[in-house]
Amino acid sequence: MTETHSEEAPSFEADPFEKRWMVISLGLLIAFMLTVTIAGFALGFQVPGSETRVDPRTVADSAPWSEPGLRDRGNGEYDAYVISKQYTFDPRTITVPVGSAVTFFLTSTDVQHGFKLQNTNVNMQVVPGEVSKLTVEFDEAGEFDYICNEFCGAGHAVMSGSVVVEAEAGGA
Ligand code: CUA
Repeated sequence: MTETHSEEAPSFEADPFEKRWMVISLGLLIAFMLTVTIAGFALGFQVPGSETRVDPRTVADSAPWSEPGLRDRGNGEYDAYVISKQYTFDPRTITVPVGSAVTFFLTSTDVQHGFKLQNTNVNMQVVPGEVSKLTVEFDEAGEFDYICNEFCGAGHAVMSGSVVVEAEAGGA
């Protein structure tokens, strides 16, 4: 009994050059998938999620946006609701104790803005009609400015605010 592989392979024959490109594109695809996986799980990168849809004309009238600012969820966790509008963030200052995990919720009541938190990897687009959400842990005391990094008009350059992370005072 002899093993004979019939060479009745499918009639499709890829050109060697074409084959090489197929391998290269597959390799790239795998490389990109690995990059995204490593960034997401090992390095903890988060893609700003579009949380909910809102009406930019009325969003500021109802809770929680009618009272922008911090909500203490306990256990060092906070929610921060920030409204972006030409040319300010409301609130302009957010103060939390060191070690806090702050989930930022941002929306715009007019045009598209940006929210970049200096010295962190937080950088979100703030689009009218949508709520952008991202969680940040503040392990060091200090002041972290947030700036608008999407051109939004004449006052774009002055659109900023800051997160003040206070060192724990006294025993906890
Ligand atoms: Cu808001 Cu630039």
